[in-house]
Amino acid sequence: MLKFALVGCGRIAKRHSDLLGHGEIAGAQLVAVCDLDADRAKVIAGKFDVPHFTDMHEMMQKIEPDVVSVLTDSGSHADVVVSLAPYGKHIVVEKPIALTLDDVDRMITTCDRNGVKLFVVQQNRFNVPVVKLREALDEGRFGKLVMGTVRVRWCRTQEYYDQDKWRGTWERDGGVISNQAIHHVDLLSWMMGDVESVFAKSSTALVDIETEDTAAVIVRFRNGALGIIEATTATRPTDLEGSISVLGEKGTVEIGGFAVNEMKVWNFTEAQDNDAETLEKYSVNPPNVYGFGHKAYYDHVVDCVVNKKQQLVDGLEGRKGLELISAIYESVETGQEVFLRFQPKRCRLGLSAS
Ligand SMILES: NC(=O)c1ccc[n+]([C@@H]2O[C@H](COP(=O)([O-])OP(=O)(O)OC[C@H]3O[C@@H](n4cnc5c(N)ncnc54)[C@H](O)[C@@H]3O)[C@@H](O)[C@H]2O)c1
Repeated sequence: MLKFALVGCGRIAKRHSDLLGHGEIAGAQLVAVCDLDADRAKVIAGKFDVPHFTDMHEMMQKIEPDVVSVLTDSGSHADVVVSLAPYGKHIVVEKPIALTLDDVDRMITTCDRNGVKLFVVQQNRFNVPVVKLREALDEGRFGKLVMGTVRVRWCRTQEYYDQDKWRGTWERDGGVISNQAIHHVDLLSWMMGDVESVFAKSSTALVDIETEDTAAVIVRFRNGALGIIEATTATRPTDLEGSISVLGEKGTVEIGGFAVNEMKVWNFTEAQDNDAETLEKYSVNPPNVYGFGHKAYYDHVVDCVVNKKQQLVDGLEGRKGLELISAIYESVETGQEVFLRFQPKRCRLGLSAS
């Protein structure tokens, strides 16, 4: 049984603690939680009858968990991970891995030095329709890839941004691209391959925040395919969709729903016997935008730790995603097409506004 501890007991901690605390992950148990805010820690600790802490170092020393999940605000991921790594316990960190490439490099180096596996939560990669899409790509069922698009049409009102000081700031969060659409940007590049360049525009349409709530990005992939990222949290009055389409010379797949969970189109020129079943079986929209992926994600974490397997999204893979996000922000700031590999110069993500 692997012992898991949580650092950060805010919104997303409910999802993590429900899975680990209710025994939904085979081979894993919740043993302690920590938050700077004692009341938040107490609520989760009380629900699962585990000890709570306000100092993560005290928790690590007293509890000695096997794995610690970092669920703090995005701008603090790097400092928290770097100070936890010397305990030599494996670390799960929520998305985005961090906000600057320098921070990610610090995290990777420190985890490597201490023999710590770093897992970045990109749970949508584990949605069953997404896994099926990836298998079809690996089997070469699409032929030449033509176009990949993602749409994030979610609703985040001013009240959402006002819940906590870090939300919607450049220094600690970023906007719809780095916070919400990061899942879909990750899926797009995982499916379509490495990105050659991006050209992006953004706006702050319906809320009062430093960063963008709306963005449109044109992508060119190294294999010649084109892509579009459409991302907004200014959909009203409710969440509409989080979706991906992949179009190739021999087939089209579209996965929609709120959280890329609902197989909408599964259509290939060279049909296979189980195609109709795939379409029917994997078309379930989850009840909210978090989707179902966190359970499959934690099963993967346990499998990688117990069986010493390579994790799907490690620090380097997380870095690749952040490089793409940073390139999108660089393009917004410069008004230019930005080519990867790339070092940010004007991207504001992770930097203080002053
Ligand atoms: N994978 C997903 O679908 C998903 C969904 C929501 C949020 N997230 C990510 O999860 C992270 C947290 O988001 P949230 O909405 O839960 O934020 P939140 O503000 O509700 O919770 C963060 C908590 O971390 C605590 N904290 C900060 N620094 C700490 C420290 N050093 N030690 C202990 N506690 C500390 C804060 O007090 C706060 O209670 C963000 O990075 C966000 O991007 C991921």
